[in-house]
Amino acid sequence: MMIREFDNVLLATLRNARHVAVLTGAGVSAESGIPTFRDAQTGLWARFRAEDLATPEAFERDPKLVWDWYAWRREIVAKAAPNAGHAALARLAGLVPRLTLVTQNVDGLHQQAGSRDVIELHGNIHRSKCARENLVIDSWQDVKDSPPRCPRCGALLRPDVVWFGEMLPAAALEQAEAAAHSCDVFLSVGTSAAVYPAAHLPLTARDAGATVVEVNKDPTRISGAVTYSLRGASGEILPRLFAVAWPM
Ligand code: OAD
Repeated sequence: MMIREFDNVLLATLRNARHVAVLTGAGVSAESGIPTFRDAQTGLWARFRAEDLATPEAFERDPKLVWDWYAWRREIVAKAAPNAGHAALARLAGLVPRLTLVTQNVDGLHQQAGSRDVIELHGNIHRSKCARENLVIDSWQDVKDSPPRCPRCGALLRPDVVWFGEMLPAAALEQAEAAAHSCDVFLSVGTSAAVYPAAHLPLTARDAGATVVEVNKDPTRISGAVTYSLRGASGEILPRLFAVAWPM
């Protein structure tokens, strides 16, 4: 359903919700200048092949290429600041009795905006881990022609993000699924809902009886399945929606 102004039933449902769950994707950080993955011209997967950069096999084949690509993305992220969408979601925590914020983003901008207890489904680009032992490593010596090595065991370091073909962190996924089952309202913000298992969360919430609200500048593959589809930039829609739902 396309709506111009916010529906009164939606506003009342939000105001009365005991538990709101939110799933965010790359779109929520687009207004901070971080490229998304699947936008036609500007998305990373329009310019790069995921098979060459975001799989365990790619890292085995060419670890330096993969490490350098993530280092480039880390630099973009390091220069970015949270936008009005991140700020609105941080504020939402103080407006509802219970909020669960789940993100597919690896940029840490929700935390920078002041959100706490963010559930990161796909890891965090600021962290690196040992490719053999999976331990998070905080400091290492840079070397020239390869990724740095683990100071404990000598294996290569890799970014602590989830690659295609890898499992999501089990505890994070469990918490996200529990929230989808128990929330009254589920917001799906700035995600194409193309990558599973994250993409299943809004549908899990719907099947469990929640009101599902999508916020996206374009239609997605779940737009037809949600209760409300709010079309526009998250940095504009979210602050407006929360300001109308909870007037000062
Ligand atoms: P996508 O790039 O697939 O989708 C971004 C969505 O945000 C699209 O539906 C856009 O229409 C929308 N969008 C763009 N700008 C927006 C804005 N300002 N406001 C609202 N919506 C906007 O990104 P994700 O859904 O996050 O995984 O992708 C999911 C996963 O696929 C990522 O976590 C990443 C990627 O491969 C891994 O790297 C494991």
